[in-house]
Amino acid sequence: MKKIKVAALILTLVTLVAGCGNTSNEVSENTKAATTPSQSETASEEVASNESEKQNTVANTGSSVLIAYFSRIGNIDSEYEIDAISSASVVTQGDDLLGNMEYMADLIQDVTGGDIHFIETSKQYPSEYDSSDNNDLDIYVNKENRENARPELAAHVENMDVYDTVFLGFPNWYGDMPMAVYSFLDEYDLSGKKIYLFNSSGGGGARNAYSEVSDLEPDAEVEKNIFSVSHSQVSELTDPDMQEWLDEVGYDN
Ligand SMILES: Cc1cc2nc3c(=O)[nH]c(=O)nc-3n(C[C@H](O)[C@H](O)[C@H](O)COP(=O)(O)O)c2cc1C
Repeated sequence: MKKIKVAALILTLVTLVAGCGNTSNEVSENTKAATTPSQSETASEEVASNESEKQNTVANTGSSVLIAYFSRIGNIDSEYEIDAISSASVVTQGDDLLGNMEYMADLIQDVTGGDIHFIETSKQYPSEYDSSDNNDLDIYVNKENRENARPELAAHVENMDVYDTVFLGFPNWYGDMPMAVYSFLDEYDLSGKKIYLFNSSGGGGARNAYSEVSDLEPDAEVEKNIFSVSHSQVSELTDPDMQEWLDEVGYDN
């Protein structure tokens, strides 16, 4: 489990470097965009992630259920600042900062006891992300989508054969699944398995994910009822919400 440490001095650092050239200005802009004026005194809420603590290799526990997910957190540059209170794309648990999809994957694990696999790319995504349309992550992801890229993955499921059920979680990234999720689907033949999809988004939902996954895994049984929520609701989800969905779709592993 990724451990995210509170970095209380980040705002101080930003102040120190502000006005010292382009890089400083970028940092400053980014911080402003992520922090509303009323939150300007919440420097202690600024957090930094440490990717090296992320565990993404599946250790098979004997479960026949795999929960694979992609999330921005864990796939971006290791040191970044983000306002944990205002961002709708993270969930805080004490000092831990989880991506929305990680939080949802953990709930599914609570209920199913499945093994978790984090879909991580070899090359990290830019960390800069704010509400403007022109930040580094947006530019990078738009290019990747345009090129229908298949980013190389850093971690692999050792023995996919032991799983008969795969939960696949992804955020909406510009109306599509992140290209890394396609890399995952390209890598594994999920024939004969039951696939459940779960998603969070800024409101756009899972879009065409059902048909995309069905096309790529024609011999798998893909559940049409996708668990999809708005990112503003993710932190309110609980195990019973997941159980309710699983009951709806007739999951009975
Ligand atoms: C690069 C990028 C592109 C996004 N594009 C969309 C979009 O087109 N539509 C939408 O509803 N949400 C979009 N979102 C919002 C995410 O889907 C949402 O915040 C999600 O909960 C993030 O999950 P995560 O924290 O696990 O990465 C985008 C987020 C990012 C970082």
